[in-house]
Amino acid sequence: MIDQASNLRKMVDNGFAKDNICKNIKIYSVLSGKGGVGKTNLSVNLGIKLNQKGKKVLLIDADVGMTNANIILGIPVRNNLFDLIKGDKTINEVITKSPYGIDLLSGGSDLLEMEKLDKEKQKWVLDNLLEFGNYDILIIDNGAGMTKQSIAFSLLSDEIILITTPEPTALTDAYRVIKVISNNNIKGKVNVIINQIENKSTGDFTFNKLLMTVNSFLNIDIENMGYVYSDLRVNKAIMEQYPFVIKYPNSLASESIEMICSKLIDDDLQKNNISTVKELKNKIYRIFG
Ligand SMILES: Nc1ncnc2c1ncn2[C@@H]1O[C@H](COP(=O)(O)OP(=O)(O)OP(=O)(O)O)[C@@H](O)[C@H]1O
Ligand SMILES: [Mg+2]
Repeated sequence: MIDQASNLRKMVDNGFAKDNICKNIKIYSVLSGKGGVGKTNLSVNLGIKLNQKGKKVLLIDADVGMTNANIILGIPVRNNLFDLIKGDKTINEVITKSPYGIDLLSGGSDLLEMEKLDKEKQKWVLDNLLEFGNYDILIIDNGAGMTKQSIAFSLLSDEIILITTPEPTALTDAYRVIKVISNNNIKGKVNVIINQIENKSTGDFTFNKLLMTVNSFLNIDIENMGYVYSDLRVNKAIMEQYPFVIKYPNSLASESIEMICSKLIDDDLQKNNISTVKELKNKIYRIFG
């Protein structure tokens, strides 16, 4: 274990270019308890909106075995992170550019596989991942529930974006996720987005219910990042294989995304919770070391 930690330390040290070391990268880990509450749709459309506001965004589809952000983006993905890990492809070959300004890195495998690779291969993968330094924002779209991988990604992230719908089962599962976040000492701010609301009061009611439960049982803060209206044009856009903020920019769902995006950027301007590459390195040491 000590050997593994020192190898990793060396590979991280060698991997990050010196001129990237002070660059700010904001990493959001998108989570939910229950599946199908809108993580991928919101990740894709938030990423596009953030890009429209001048941020360079990489979306990482980390839903192992079920990657589908490319379908919502309407783009083919030939390679994935597993191909990079196996050493078959370069970073340029595994990152897919979308017509909407954001780039996509498809998971395809467990990032924790990295731990099992030999030293040389690990260094090679990390050297390639250096390209991350060009991005302002990484959005990690996880699978539903909390797994070893989504916990590791969340530890690495600056902030959590937790998605739920007003449905009681989704809300109960969202609370469970917050409990896991708390138990694993994940420090990132927990932003909650309530998706598929019918009206603002449903959103307020849902968030307050979650807040009350969290305040009663856990020592963790959650923040209301906003609501996204239930909107038939979300499904229509999926069927047409276009992101809804592109196809239906004036829809209720797109307006909701616009508001959330402005809030995220306002937070950024206050320079809250942004990692420099150097801090990111330290986090990697802590997680794997
Ligand atoms: N705001 C919305 N209005 C209407 N329908 C929505 C909205 N958001 C999501 N949906 C519906 O929910 C479905 C699931 O969305 P999505 O695939 O983004 O969820 P997910 O949380 O990523 O799922 P998984 O847990 O399987 O990864 C979509 O196919 C769409 O039909
Ligand atoms: Mg998904």
